[in-house]
Amino acid sequence: MLYPKDDNIKLISNNSHQLIAMRLPRNRRTIIVGGLVLFTLIVILFKTNLLKPACLFSNSNGNQDKMVREEKFVIGADHKSYVYHRNMPLIFIGGVPRSGTTLMRAMLDAHPEVRCGQETRVIPRILQLRSHWMKSEKESMRLEEAGIHKEVLNSAIAQFCLEIIAKHGDPAPRLCNKDPLTLKMGSYVIELFPNAKFIFMVRDGRGTVHSIISRKVTITGFDLTNYRQCMQKWNQAITTMHDQCQEIGKDRCLMVHYEQLVLQPKKSMERILQFLEIPWNESVLHHEDFINKENGVALSKVERSSDQVIKPINLEALTKWVGHIPEDVVQDMANIAPMLSVLGYDPYANPPAYGNADSVVKENTFKVKNNQKLWDHKVKQLLRRDEENLEENENDNNQDDNPNDVNERT
Ligand SMILES: *[C@@H]1O[C@H](CO)[C@@H](O)[C@H](O)[C@H]1NC(C)=O
Repeated sequence: MLYPKDDNIKLISNNSHQLIAMRLPRNRRTIIVGGLVLFTLIVILFKTNLLKPACLFSNSNGNQDKMVREEKFVIGADHKSYVYHRNMPLIFIGGVPRSGTTLMRAMLDAHPEVRCGQETRVIPRILQLRSHWMKSEKESMRLEEAGIHKEVLNSAIAQFCLEIIAKHGDPAPRLCNKDPLTLKMGSYVIELFPNAKFIFMVRDGRGTVHSIISRKVTITGFDLTNYRQCMQKWNQAITTMHDQCQEIGKDRCLMVHYEQLVLQPKKSMERILQFLEIPWNESVLHHEDFINKENGVALSKVERSSDQVIKPINLEALTKWVGHIPEDVVQDMANIAPMLSVLGYDPYANPPAYGNADSVVKENTFKVKNNQKLWDHKVKQLLRRDEENLEENENDNNQDDNPNDVNERT
């Protein structure tokens, strides 16, 4: 169907030619005798009709097709089959954790044609594992010598990612993945999936860091007791992602400022859907109506940002960080996090003027503020999350040695 030419097939046959060629001088006799035996066997099989000529000639490499080109598809609730493959236009949402990536994916999940789903966690890990192998000269040589050429590894990793993306949620015409750190390996992801696109969520680093610290989000390399160090780490991570996004290019990577998405959701989403070549649908502006509904926004009980996307888009989180950052860090902000200025955030303004909010967003903010109990109840109901439950998650996260590895281990 929509399958690309499968490199596997070519590789398999190449290797077997090599094998025979290598052994020929040493075992010429064995090969000749073996060949004769094989030939006799085939003749016998033909005569006894056990091997039908049609199998051999109707499809030049029918057997290999069966081994490698198994049709990959999932059946939806609508009984349609959804084929998935490396050339499909996947959507990847990336950014430093706590930068609005969950809001972004919830809004896209509300669209009838898109499914993102919860963080998979394993996709950035396998990409990082491969990146470590490649960084080690010794290891990449060992892999090469073992016949695990670039194409073999790429095809295996792509299939792993595809299986996870296609099967961890409902099928949809457009599949999407939100594992924020995947963007650190963004250009490689595009190499695996040439028609994929990235949405790069960017947020004022002070807001991101305040959220990481106050919500105790453990990210390897981030010292949750130290604002200065966290701002430096934010700067480092966002630099890598910014570079990746530039390398990928404007056609395949779109930078979205979290503050703009929150202030002007309609304008932002129009731009985003256009970039993704997805038809406009109002439902993206009402993601809160689709929480845990069929074909809607599936939430994880243990993801930190789940409780926030249960509420409609509002301004609560925008300037929460103001007044929480130690004075010496505030003074030194431009030096600690030069990426703030690069991304258009005034490092000396506390807070900067992010812009005007749509009236709908202002109304939402008012509603959320004045019905705190109702929203708390909704969170409990939808996530079946209580204090005891939350405590447990924190412990889990702390024991996890590498839950959200932002730092490269060297
Ligand atoms: C938007 O999506 C809903 C389902 O969520 C659908 O019923 C409606 O027809 C869609 N509207 C447009 C304009 O495509």
